[in-house]
Amino acid sequence: MQDEHVTSAEAGAGEEATELSLRPQTLSQYIGQGHVKRDMEVYIQAAKKRGEALDHVLLYGPPGLGKTTLAFVIANELGVNLKSTSGPAIERAGDLVALLTDLDPGDVLFIDEIHRLAKPVEEVLYSAMEDYYIDIVVGEGQATHAVHLPLPPFTLIGATTLAGQLSAPLRDRFGIVEHMQYYELEDLEEIVLRSSRVFHTEISEDAALELARRSRGTPRVANRLLKRVRDFAEVKGESEISFETTAAALRQLQVDDAGLDQTDRKLLRTMIMSYGGGPVGIRTLASNIGEDRETIESLYEPYLLQKGFIVMTPRGRVVTEKAYRQLGLPLPSDEA
Ligand SMILES: Nc1ncnc2c1ncn2[C@@H]1O[C@H](COP(=O)(O)OP(=O)(O)OP(=O)(O)O)[C@@H](O)[C@H]1O
Ligand SMILES: [Mg+2]
Repeated sequence: MQDEHVTSAEAGAGEEATELSLRPQTLSQYIGQGHVKRDMEVYIQAAKKRGEALDHVLLYGPPGLGKTTLAFVIANELGVNLKSTSGPAIERAGDLVALLTDLDPGDVLFIDEIHRLAKPVEEVLYSAMEDYYIDIVVGEGQATHAVHLPLPPFTLIGATTLAGQLSAPLRDRFGIVEHMQYYELEDLEEIVLRSSRVFHTEISEDAALELARRSRGTPRVANRLLKRVRDFAEVKGESEISFETTAAALRQLQVDDAGLDQTDRKLLRTMIMSYGGGPVGIRTLASNIGEDRETIESLYEPYLLQKGFIVMTPRGRVVTEKAYRQLGLPLPSDEA
């Protein structure tokens, strides 16, 4: 079934077509996230059997793990339309009303970055999600009156990198909540191999494994590194991307053997050099390394935590011995 997908990709050209073709379209093409897939398979089948809209779904986890991709896969498996928007894009309650009233029964409304919804917009969502209606105020002056507007049954799929920033009333209205995890090595390797087929690029097995190893458990990173490594191989005139070229390209891209990039290392080094290894508060850290707080909290920290380079304490984040070793810096105890 993967090959079928690859063939359909050949029709398109350019970056956008490539991005589309890199995205799996069915649950069976969707690699990894086994527990999420198993859950969704059941819920989708049950909803279809009952002829009802699927319950609302919240997908959360670090950037680039395939939340948007999965939302499209779910709509595709349900056989319904998907309308896509994002939290910051819906400025007024009226914008959301327009989106909701435009849905057909069973459709999916996908709201990316749902933690960034404006409060008045979020409040419209409450009744829409719970009972499929909205109360809106129409008219002006004396003619002002409330209108109770029923909506078609629909599925809201919300995606967020910062689930902690979601308000409790909104979070509670999602019947299905799925936590996207960093990908296993084998899954990333499979994604690299699949993407190279989409690109019509040959890659050796050890090169694919090396790319997977250095991709921070993240398909988006794997695909990005694959594109860059492919460039190096192209210039060298390699017909198949080799392990040596991959290793050299990753060195040049300054991705280290743990998959850490320049910003990861800058973050760790700043904590060590300027704060004796921590604890450091998030605001201090953000201003010191010149990244915004949300990027650090959603993108950098989760991976560094998962890999044990930092730990969280009540007073802030602290680097571990593993981080000193990774950066080749002497441990504070060695200096004493
Ligand atoms: N399970 C998967 N199998 C194959 N490719 C995947 C998978 N998940 C994601 N990808 C690829 O990784 C890239 C990023 O995925 P996607 O945009 O869905 O991530 P995201 O979680 O929505 O990220 P963000 O939080 O930044 O919006 C896409 O190019 C997609 O093709
Ligand atoms: Mg996304």
